[in-house]
Order: sequence, then structure tokens, then C-alpha cells
Amino acid sequence: MDLQVKPPLYRLLVIVAALLSFAGIPVSPAADEKAPAAAPEAPAFSSKNTFRNICGFCHEDYGRKAGKGPQLMNSERSDQYLFDRIKNGKAGRMAAFGGAFTDDQIREIVKFIRSLRPDQEP
Ligand code: HEC
Repeated sequence: MDLQVKPPLYRLLVIVAALLSFAGIPVSPAADEKAPAAAPEAPAFSSKNTFRNICGFCHEDYGRKAGKGPQLMNSERSDQYLFDRIKNGKAGRMAAFGGAFTDDQIREIVKFIRSLRPDQEP
């Protein structure tokens, strides 16, 4: 008995394999060896984005203008005062964000407020 694959049959196998692979069915181990998608890393904390997304609703233009909340740029308050206000809020006026941010993150936000300039996009 002749076990050799005859050319016409071989051609048929190639066509079937091509159709399978076209349909997304792996026909060779290589097709299966996709590297697992890397777990996305948590984006680094951005005081600017945080400010824009959360605080900007009341402290307009990144705190460069008064809105529902006061202007924060060029504040004459101490860093500690700003830190405490952000962390503890003020009843009836501003929420306490001590539960949302770590102390380090609040310090980053205070630094961001200190970096605000009237003539410079934050
Ligand atoms: C719902 C509106 C609102 C949001 C949101 C808000 N604030 Fe305020 N914020 C206020 C108001 C109103 C005051 C004034 C409170 C007072 O009388 O001391 C204030 C005061 C402050 C002060 C003290 C300023 C000063 O000179 O007395 C800082 C600092 C501050 N906010 C930072 C932030 C930051 C940072 C965020 C976001 C994490 C934020 N605020 C979100 C309304 C808001």
C-alpha cells in the first residue's frame, strides 16, 4: 500500500489548513503562542489630572480663577492650611478628600497649586 500523500491530496490539505486559519482556528502550535497580554499598570498619580477631574468643578481653570470655590493660585495661606483643607474639607462647603488621597498625594496637589501661574497653562 502506498502511504505517500499524493500531490492532489496534499494540495487539498493546504487549502483546508488555509481555510481553518482564515476562520481563526489555529492549525499550527505557533498560532497559539501569543504572549499573554501584559497587565496594565496603574497610571501614576497625576496631581494635574486629579485637580482637573475632581477639583476643577469648583476651583475653575485649575484653581486659577474663583468659581464655586475660591481661587487657589497665589494663595496666601500656608501649605499646611491648604493641606488641611484638602484633607479635612469644610463642612457644608467642600468635601474632605482625606479618604480619597494619601498624604503624599495631597502634598503633590499642594505643590501643583503652588506651581500655578497666571500666564502659564498648568
Ligand atoms: C463642591 C465644590 C468643591 C470641590 C469639588 C472642591 N472644593 Fe476646594 N473649596 C471649595 C470651597 C467652597 C472652598 C472654600 C471653603 C472655605 O470657606 O474655606 C474651598 C476651599 C479650598 C481650599 C482652601 C483655599 C483657601 O484659600 O481657603 C483648598 C486648598 C481647596 N479648596 C482645594 C481643593 C482641592 C485640591 C480639591 C480637589 C481635590 C477641591 N478643593 C475640591 C469647594 C470645592
